[in-house]
Amino acid sequence: MTALRPSTGAAHSRILGYGGYRPSRVVPNSELVEAIDSSDEWIRTRTGITERRWATPEETVQLMATSAARDALADAGIDPRQIDCVIVATVSHMLQTPSLAAAVAHELGAEQPAAFDISAACAGFCHGIALASDLVRGGSARHVLVIGVERLSELTDQTDRGTAFIFADGAGAAVVGPSDEPGIGPVVWGSDGERSDLITQREGWPEALATGSFPHLTMQGNPVFRWASFAMAKSALEALDRAGLSVDDLDCFVPHQANLRIIDAMAKAMKLPDHVRIARDITDMGNTSAASIPLALERMRREGDARSGDTALLIAFGAGLTWAAQVVVLP
Ligand code: UT7
Repeated sequence: MTALRPSTGAAHSRILGYGGYRPSRVVPNSELVEAIDSSDEWIRTRTGITERRWATPEETVQLMATSAARDALADAGIDPRQIDCVIVATVSHMLQTPSLAAAVAHELGAEQPAAFDISAACAGFCHGIALASDLVRGGSARHVLVIGVERLSELTDQTDRGTAFIFADGAGAAVVGPSDEPGIGPVVWGSDGERSDLITQREGWPEALATGSFPHLTMQGNPVFRWASFAMAKSALEALDRAGLSVDDLDCFVPHQANLRIIDAMAKAMKLPDHVRIARDITDMGNTSAASIPLALERMRREGDARSGDTALLIAFGAGLTWAAQVVVLP
């Protein structure tokens, strides 16, 4: 029998650089409350959010994704021509095909890399990092660009009391490449389709088109809140354990920015020591779904809370339900 030559990759992988793009339009709570019969105080106390960013018409998903990618490439010191795979995590690219990844790769000047989008909602970025790490270690790619981008303002019904105040827009990106030392720990991920109705589009595009409506997002916030606060703390601890570490070894905790109360509940359930710096980008960015973790990281670095060599625990969760967590060493 003929033996095929196996694919061989790098011994280890790591994040080489990361960056983000924050849309220009600042939307304070006061701008939203009338349409949903709410108040600035309710939104602040229930979510921690004071304002969020919404993209202007010019700030398309492609523009935001490309800008975040350029930021990450510059931070990594990697030329676009060195990228041989682009993964975009998004639910708000309005074209079913072609992928946003292929368009972004072309705009960046990458040389015909593999390019595809993934649909794992708010957990998309951590899915992308897990895939990128395995691609690099498996030999299918040497440098992978992972982008999380959302323009949820477009998918949100601004009169829906359950979602209008929470979702927002933005993009974040990271470059994953080979490493001499382990820089991305084993992923802990999963899905629970039985609870797919908790966060979903109200209807499919054909049904929406037939009735002239728009398939906005809908969320049963409270069950998601309870699930995220407790089950996700367990998954985060499992990722830590699978990396052979304990909470004492952590420098940074960077959970998906869904709700400040979820972030605090998770930190408490995990008994994180005081020295662990916790991402709280949500207060003026809202929930940017697949973009929230790289954006939060970028802010932590800018404000001196995340440094090169730090050990950071990432955990993302959302519609599906889906989740993914891993420990990374920051570049
Ligand atoms: O990113 C993907 C994953 N998503 C998440 O992780 C989001 C998770 N969920 C949440 O963040 C929270 O569930 C929300 C912030 C969405 C809602 O907070 P909550 O503490 O779960 O509120 P609730 O739905 O249990 O409602 C509590 C009260 C109710 O009034 P009563 O029955 O206590 O009198 C609601 O009618 O707040 C009322 N309420 C509102 N009041 C003002 C619900 N929505 C609003 C609103 N403004 N927008």
